[in-house]
Amino acid sequence: MPLFSDPSVGIADPLLRRAYIVAERGRGTVSPNPLVGCVVARDGRVVAEGHHARAGGPHAEVVALDAAGPGARGADVYVTLEPCDHHGRTPPCTERLLAEGVASVTIGMRDPDTSVSGGGAERLAAGGVRVRFADDPGPFRAQNEAWLTRLVHRRPFVRVKAALTLDARPALSAGTRSAITSSGGRDVTMRLRAESTAIMVGAGTVDVDDPILTARGPLEEHAARTPRRYVLARTSLPAPGARVFQTPPECAAVIASGAADPDALETLRNAGVRVIGYPADGGILAALEALAADGVDDVLVEPGPRLMTALVESEVIDELVTITAGGLGGDEAPAWYTGPITGAAERLVPLFVPIESGIVGTDVVTVWRTVVGSPSGIGKGSALRCSLV
Ligand SMILES: NC(=O)c1ccc[n+]([C@@H]2O[C@H](COP(=O)([O-])OP(=O)(O)OC[C@H]3O[C@@H](n4cnc5c(N)ncnc54)[C@H](OP(=O)(O)O)[C@@H]3O)[C@@H](O)[C@H]2O)c1
Repeated sequence: MPLFSDPSVGIADPLLRRAYIVAERGRGTVSPNPLVGCVVARDGRVVAEGHHARAGGPHAEVVALDAAGPGARGADVYVTLEPCDHHGRTPPCTERLLAEGVASVTIGMRDPDTSVSGGGAERLAAGGVRVRFADDPGPFRAQNEAWLTRLVHRRPFVRVKAALTLDARPALSAGTRSAITSSGGRDVTMRLRAESTAIMVGAGTVDVDDPILTARGPLEEHAARTPRRYVLARTSLPAPGARVFQTPPECAAVIASGAADPDALETLRNAGVRVIGYPADGGILAALEALAADGVDDVLVEPGPRLMTALVESEVIDELVTITAGGLGGDEAPAWYTGPITGAAERLVPLFVPIESGIVGTDVVTVWRTVVGSPSGIGKGSALRCSLV
């Protein structure tokens, strides 16, 4: 999720770019479906637009065509994802586009999910509609990388966020809650939460920090978009009285391994907490698969040192957002990562590359991508590069 750049500037066609921007309105609510935006235009002017807001709700094309009414006949349609051609929870969008008699459809990217769709473009062309694809599907694939990650890897896109001291300490002493960053870093955290489908912390962090994990300000719309909240536990479980289980809009769920104490799990259930199980021998990956099965395409993880180390060792981090403050934690402060060196002692091997960075308040925020890259194809260092002057 770019924080300091707008990926839509790379979209040459202004109406397709508008469809991309409209699609963004579904971010955080649309999972496990893709983000889709649609614009109905005539003579290059927007007649109507629509986005896909949530699974089971109307598709973007239907929202835009409904809004266009009779204005859809002979119009040009711009849509970020190939229209579906199958009967799912809603009828095929291709049928609706053909019935409305639109003249052309311009598509951002092909639908790669062949299990439920494919052939939408061909069906429209066979019906006499002029079909065109964007020259560069890159921005549209990037927009839907969470959805693509679940299609390809059967797990959510994993974004990790950490607030760190200048010497990379996540807390000032073990077992205490520490305020590390400025209000700028806090604003970044709130934005990341508001734009995520789910947020997850380890049971250790619930014990120490007792966080509520909601999205609060700085923008008003953030408060309305608190993500679904999850607590990851392997053997030790969080206390049922933790604030994350008492705070609206919806009690957090616990993802617990099969090795957790059944009596303690029952206590949580009796307190009204939803418990999702995963096989203990499957590790973090199995927990993430359980999250995907719960309808989550992307998750923001705010890990303490133990969970961070396990995430690195499981190689499941797609994106890392570090928020670095100017203070030093020193020797008493715990390390953020406690696993082995990456590479060899003589030569450190980077696991992540920075793709963008900025100063917010008095903190430095850097977005890192795994060196391997993501299914969207981005993430191999597409940052704005600065030269020394
Ligand atoms: N600065 C930041 O951004 C930030 C963010 C979050 C937390 N923190 C700080 O971090 C500290 C808490 O960190 P922590 O290390 O105690 O806890 P943690 O990393 O938040 O949570 C660890 C939890 O994850 C569970 N887990 C599930 N699968 C695991 C696996 N494969 N490997 C390891 N653990 C697994 C552990 O279960 P088991 O107990 O059964 O092993 C444990 O309950 C606090 O001081 C908090 O303030 C800082």
